Amino acid sequence: MGRCDGSTPLLGAAMSMQQRIEIALELHFSHIQALSAPPRLMSAMRHAVFPGGARIRPQLCLAVAKACGDDAPALSDAAAVAIELMHCASLVHDDMPCFDDADTRRGQITVHKLYGEPLALLTGDGLIVMAYQVMVRAGRLHPARLADLISTISDGVGAPDGIVAGQAWECETKVALSQYQRAKTGALFVAATCAGAQAAGVDPAPWRALGEALGEAYQVADDIRDVMGQAEILGKPVGQDAEHGRPSAAADLGLAGALAYFQKLMDAAVNSVPACANRQAMQQLVRLESERLVPQSAYEQIQRHVAVSKHRANA
Ligand code: IPE
Ligand code: IPE
Ligand code: MG
Ligand code: MG
Repeated sequence: MGRCDGSTPLLGAAMSMQQRIEIALELHFSHIQALSAPPRLMSAMRHAVFPGGARIRPQLCLAVAKACGDDAPALSDAAAVAIELMHCASLVHDDMPCFDDADTRRGQITVHKLYGEPLALLTGDGLIVMAYQVMVRAGRLHPARLADLISTISDGVGAPDGIVAGQAWECETKVALSQYQRAKTGALFVAATCAGAQAAGVDPAPWRALGEALGEAYQVADDIRDVMGQAEILGKPVGQDAEHGRPSAAADLGLAGALAYFQKLMDAAVNSVPACANRQAMQQLVRLESERLVPQSAYEQIQRHVAVSKHRANA
């Protein structure tokens, strides 16, 4: 299930968007590259970002920016880059031994395995700060939009409801599944849709629901893939949620229940695309993303699994 080469339907539909994201990432990396920088830190930061995974969050940000007119493309690019950098930082930290202790990510060896834990910690820190450097650099030409953008992106990452809070729920004894998933994954999707609108100078409120539904669906799909997927295809280990006792949609609802919940969230995502020039095209992209995350073959596999379990229970 799924691919780790960035070949998402969203990208397939618009190759130029993928190129736009990679070019913008390279551009902003060029600003922090200097002879004075510690070479291993620079190398580890690049390792965390290139090659990318699905780049779904920056695509979402740019897709919304485009739907809202994209009248300040360099600012939209910066917002997309900042969000992807925050995401990459969260993955570096998430893979460390004090969290999920993973050896592979995006088909490569993880940062702490290759560079050691001190540099992995600093790589995550460096990427988070770089996200702000990117925003400040691009925001100089659009100071009226900068504060709201920084606030949106920060809310997706920090306390009380962003990634940091989501990961911190793993250190509590009790948490509701959806609160955990909305914080650790959903919040950055909300930041992606809202920042896309704000970068184009448009009210983000109508775009919030799309980020919420897609973000939660994304984590539910990740939980299903953690049970049913293959490490070689996903580019990261599977079976992690059970191994670490993480709250998971598959564990809480069963595979069939998780699948039904995923479908419900994806339907909500499709319906929540607000009125805009390319509403139908955006809805189609969300549907294609749904198929990439949980293909029809996985539905059939789960249905067979449920039928066999029922048959055994009745025998
Ligand atoms: C992985 O996110 C972590 C989750 C929140 C599920 P992605 O599946 O978007 O990872 P990449 O960026 O494509 O590698
Ligand atoms: C990660 O969640 C979400 C982050 C905030 C990094 P998971 O731990 O479930 O994601 P994977 O499976 O390692 O990508
Ligand atoms: Mg984790
Ligand atoms: Mg993990």
